[in-house]
Amino acid sequence: MLTPVMSRYWDHPQSWTLDTYLANDGYQGLRKALAMEPAEVVQLVKDSGLRGRGGAGFPAGVKWGFMPQGPIDPAKPHYLVVNADESEPGTCKDIPLMMATPHLLVEGSIIAAYAMRASHAFIYVRGEVVHVLRRLQRAVFEAYEAGYLGRNILGSGYDIELIVHAGSGAYICGEETALLDSLEGFRGQPRLRPPFPAQSGLYACPTTVNNAETIASVPPILVKGASWFRSFGTEKSTGFTLFSLSGHVARPGQYEAPLGVTLRELLDAAGGVRPGHELKFWTPGGSSTPILTAEHLDVPLDYESIGSAGSMLGTKALQIFDDTTCVVRAVLRWTEFYAHESCGKCTPCREGTYWMVQILQRLERGEGSKEDLETMLDASDNILGRSFCALGDGATSPITSSIQYFRDEYIEHFAQGGCPFDAEAATLFAGAGL
Ligand SMILES: Cc1cc2nc3c(=O)[nH]c(=O)nc-3n(C[C@H](O)[C@H](O)[C@H](O)COP(=O)(O)O)c2cc1C
Ligand code: SF4
Repeated sequence: MLTPVMSRYWDHPQSWTLDTYLANDGYQGLRKALAMEPAEVVQLVKDSGLRGRGGAGFPAGVKWGFMPQGPIDPAKPHYLVVNADESEPGTCKDIPLMMATPHLLVEGSIIAAYAMRASHAFIYVRGEVVHVLRRLQRAVFEAYEAGYLGRNILGSGYDIELIVHAGSGAYICGEETALLDSLEGFRGQPRLRPPFPAQSGLYACPTTVNNAETIASVPPILVKGASWFRSFGTEKSTGFTLFSLSGHVARPGQYEAPLGVTLRELLDAAGGVRPGHELKFWTPGGSSTPILTAEHLDVPLDYESIGSAGSMLGTKALQIFDDTTCVVRAVLRWTEFYAHESCGKCTPCREGTYWMVQILQRLERGEGSKEDLETMLDASDNILGRSFCALGDGATSPITSSIQYFRDEYIEHFAQGGCPFDAEAATLFAGAGL
């Protein structure tokens, strides 16, 4: 059931070095790409069906094809920007990927830049993860030394510079246009679209922004081909990917498997929910994706099936919450995160997330009312689709989905005048003589 491709030698004692990478097909994909025309590389990625792993699942090859064709205007060079900001609660795949196999991302970045005829590429990493930055910078240094980066790489006549850039740790800087502002040295806030980055991105030049895992998926496709990649996954959600299991699970971690696998199968591989407890709810792709429950254990984890179940596959961050979790408290914590990270540019998100926190705090203390639930649903309805960027939309997901599945638990809070889980914990402690 598991298909380790990107993660297949993560347990090697020095998985991050160039030597280990070269012993595992390293830079073979680049050699193949350089023997092809850039447009052929774009077509290969289109044929593979690879979809963006940053959340929205947009087909990578199609996005690459949006870059201007024909002669490149010297005043408008093309850029590739790799989004490794990874800040969504629960999302934790790009950081281990860059720690364990930084060369996979470096090679993928060179191939993608070549395909889009860019001679400058940037990897934007969140600044707090200094250990990841160091490892990535070391890999870039090794790649320059070995002639995979720089001028006339591998004697191909192609020049490519790769810059690792450290952000300053704002969730909004993962939104691709805010990221571009941040990279240009401005405060990271989303830009109005159109124009889209492929027309006017970094420094107002044609730019493609892709997630780190999307780019790291490219070298194996070059080595083994589009049909090989399509042989994994489902018809519309092709390939393998990193599923990140976290929370109340016996063996949390990264599980690389084909799209279309189910949470039940992944939980089996991860030793199940922690002993003595049952699954209560879970996110399929981080906190911005509506929560699901135990009734969804057998829904295939692909973009279409999770969409039909009323959620989104997002970043495939499977956060597991067992029966000891107060859903109101969990939703409050997430909403506090969104209120803190809201960039303030638009009113629905800036004001809405603030007021949602006030209401949820009241509800969690057991001082809320039924009207509060209706107010939250109404406010969510006014944020969703009316915010300037998807941060606002994402902030409504935990609220609306938790009320959909756990309305009774919200009611229990104000019916009892407090959190039922606090009462349970108090009984437990009292029984244990604490
Ligand atoms: C608030 C917010 C934060 C985001 N954070 C990230 C992130 O950390 N990494 C990422 O790849 N995409 C993030 N995205 C999605 C990006 O805007 C963009 O869709 C993605 O980088 C495209 O890559 P892909 O096509 O390879 O999936 C975020 C979006 C929003 C609205
Ligand atoms: S939705 Fe939130 S994060 Fe996005 S632009 Fe508006 S205020 Fe900023």
